[in-house]
Amino acid sequence: MRTRILEILRKSSEEYVSGEEISRQLSVSRTAIWKQMQTLKQSGYEIEAHPRRGYRLQNRPDLLLPYEIRDTLSTKKLGRGEIYYFSEIDSTNSEAKKQANLGCQEGAIVLAETQNGGRGRLSRSWFSPTGKGIWLSIVLRPPFNPYDAPKCTLLAAVAVTKAIRNVTGVECGIKWPNDILYQGKKIVGILTEMSAEIDAINHVVIGMGINVNIKEQEFPAELMDIATSLSIIVGHDISRLALLNAILTELEQAYEDVIQRGFSHMLDEWRKFSVTLGENVNVVGSGREFSGTAVDIDQDGALLVQTKGCLERVLAGDVSIRPQIGLN
Ligand code: BTN
Repeated sequence: MRTRILEILRKSSEEYVSGEEISRQLSVSRTAIWKQMQTLKQSGYEIEAHPRRGYRLQNRPDLLLPYEIRDTLSTKKLGRGEIYYFSEIDSTNSEAKKQANLGCQEGAIVLAETQNGGRGRLSRSWFSPTGKGIWLSIVLRPPFNPYDAPKCTLLAAVAVTKAIRNVTGVECGIKWPNDILYQGKKIVGILTEMSAEIDAINHVVIGMGINVNIKEQEFPAELMDIATSLSIIVGHDISRLALLNAILTELEQAYEDVIQRGFSHMLDEWRKFSVTLGENVNVVGSGREFSGTAVDIDQDGALLVQTKGCLERVLAGDVSIRPQIGLN
């Protein structure tokens, strides 16, 4: 009912709409309308109530509320079913895994204004300040072999890169496997988690942390040199709703494309956006550390690193790009 009320208020833009008119359109009592107005006000909507003229929407909050998302969304599946929204949560990925295990639909999304236990790769934590980013998890039930699941991360990285470029013009790139960087600083991290049987995937949760409107001084000291936000890069705040819509749209298209045509086109797009290929890299993982040149990714999404002795195939681990050393 709240979505319908907002729809009516938005349509009438500057004009007042009487409680009677809204209750007629929705076939509910005026008391029920009044109660919904109070809830909307508590969520941050500024609604003017005039004793004779009725209600008028003055301002919408900058929140990723489900009815706001549904209003802007242009997808067919992602975000079309369940949207689990929290002002605060430990981790949207943990919640998405819980909902996936309880049987939520493919395309369900979990969003929070802040996370107090946001998780990154390699057991790191993820900085998720209130209202300043998109802290999002998406539940997919891909018809792939579990062996192909890591490619969901590459797919998500390509989709988010395209969405950011389209919405903000920021020419960001992908560091293998899943970091989105701008001039060496991280703006997006992706954490993919899976539940599977030997031959079938139950669900994949794609978690994304997107630094949208974080100010320079709001980053903790340890992140200042390695992370940035879209608003710092472009010099003004970015609409989180518009960006979220673009991300879900790009992801849905990329996902459908992979299901219909396989992974090779997506891997080519990943190569196009890569900031890792052609660079000297340092690889740490599985108790080993080595350096070499990142030459390609293979059909499984593994990074191929040419060392002095051989071509190493990296499926997991931490890859850092080493600065090029000049000759003079
Ligand atoms: C990384 O770069 O290490 C991955 C970071 C992933 C962070 C996101 S924020 C939304 C979702 N919920 C989590 O707890 N983590 C992911």
